[in-house]
Amino acid sequence: MSPTERPLEHIPAVGLTDVSMAFGGKTVLAAVTLDIAPGSVVALLGANGAGKSTLIKILSGVHTDHGGEVRIAGEPAALHSPLAARRLGIQTVHQRIGEGIVPGLSVAENLVFEELAQARGNPFLNGRRVLARAREIQAGLDLGWSDSLLRRDVSELGISDRQLLILARALATRPRLLILDEPTSALSAAEAERLFTLVEKMRDDGIAVLYVSHRLGEIDALADRLVVLRDGRLTEDQAKPFDWDSALRAMLAQAQEATTARPVREGSAGDVALSLKGVRLLEGRAPLDLDIRTGEVTGVVGLLGAGKTELARGLFGADPFTTGSLELDGRPYGPRRPADAIRAGVHLVPEDRHADALVPGWSLARNISLPFLKSLSRAGLMNTAKEDALGRDTIAALGVVARDEHSTVEELSGGNQQKVVVGRWLAETPRVLILDEPFRGVDIGARRDIGRRARALAAEGAAVLVLSADVDEVLEIADRVVVLAAGEIHLDACGEDAERDRVIQTISASV
Ligand SMILES: Nc1ncnc2c1ncn2[C@@H]1O[C@H](COP(=O)(O)OP(=O)(O)OP(=O)(O)O)[C@@H](O)[C@H]1O
Ligand SMILES: [Mg+2]
Repeated sequence: MSPTERPLEHIPAVGLTDVSMAFGGKTVLAAVTLDIAPGSVVALLGANGAGKSTLIKILSGVHTDHGGEVRIAGEPAALHSPLAARRLGIQTVHQRIGEGIVPGLSVAENLVFEELAQARGNPFLNGRRVLARAREIQAGLDLGWSDSLLRRDVSELGISDRQLLILARALATRPRLLILDEPTSALSAAEAERLFTLVEKMRDDGIAVLYVSHRLGEIDALADRLVVLRDGRLTEDQAKPFDWDSALRAMLAQAQEATTARPVREGSAGDVALSLKGVRLLEGRAPLDLDIRTGEVTGVVGLLGAGKTELARGLFGADPFTTGSLELDGRPYGPRRPADAIRAGVHLVPEDRHADALVPGWSLARNISLPFLKSLSRAGLMNTAKEDALGRDTIAALGVVARDEHSTVEELSGGNQQKVVVGRWLAETPRVLILDEPFRGVDIGARRDIGRRARALAAEGAAVLVLSADVDEVLEIADRVVVLAAGEIHLDACGEDAERDRVIQTISASV
């Protein structure tokens, strides 16, 4: 680097030239050329499977067998390991929450961990110096964390504070490039605001930021520049103000409406399918009553900790309710385990896809058929033709990017794995379908496909319950909106009464 010849701000923080990558002969990135200027936020947009995470993994030293060149501050860089990438000033906050949190250490130790790990000599500096450095970091970033919180065991932090910790730790190293892969997917609106403030501060300090998100509103507010990946190629590069029509066409190869206008619906609600009486979702909160009807999509919106997952797991028998009673089609319903729920026609698409839902090493077709293995097999023998057909149908219906129905789930991008988990429950019409955060990580095209399919199932007579922390997602799909806060219902409205502003006001008033 020769700062006398060129002003520093004109040298890209990171530059990619003709970067390419293939998995087993299949090209997933082709000739990607991109410069990221210091002090700018570049949003990376692309459908599920477009190659975003692959690009990020090259920049963070995870994938090393790629073609083309990466330059850092104008110099060719060898990103041959994650540590090498971090030493060169590239910090990545990966999508999976809590990745990188070290259990058993305090918040302060976790905050300083990166520096400890990079420091030569004894990595375990004494406690007082660790605390002093952690205090400095928290003050510099204005996290609002007290000394007593810094001393606590990291396992006592909630999900959003863990996410903040990971971000703070990355920022404390003063990176050249900060990469954020869907950092807000599990944060509430207020927490996301906090994150945006931090990102803006970093940008103003000259850090380059690469931001991956499927949320257009966020990108619009935060990014200075927008690039689109489609099938491994950069197809669009825009400066603010963004032309969303053109960006979405570049991303999906077809026109899409960017706005989430709420369609007007006729009163389509049918009979009560599932009825809750006196059910307590959270310890110490008031019990609630709720009727879930066929023919409509009921959206339950609430922040993290509102009790949405407790509601879903209780109805599915995964964590049975300890108070109150349930009725299914007017008859007592008390599932003690998921098998009881499935037998009664109550299906759940769980929130944590990885832990609960996909079998590694199995083909897509078999993973999709998983809930129906019994109905697809006779005397223990699988009908593989039926299984394959079900796999092909789901792949087509939700646009899963995969070689074919025999690919294993590991070969899929994050969003495509999600489509598989959601998609398999959409293959049959259950009596009650519960979707817990079905849109996390799926692109806007797939979100609409899932939404359409859920509405079609409702029209066929299912009662559909969608749980989400995102108001816009819920409004896009639901006929009726229930606001849940701290285990209690604060609003239950349809049509005009379920106006966006009203829903948002109710949520903020309940915090
Ligand atoms: N380990 C792997 N083995 C084989 N194929 C892979 C592997 N990792 C990714 N791929 C393929 O590379 C392509 C790009 O995947 P990538 O994870 O980069 O997509 P993405 O843009 O991050 O998508 P998403 O929005 O779903 O996270 C996909 O077709 C995926 O199936
Ligand atoms: Mg990805």
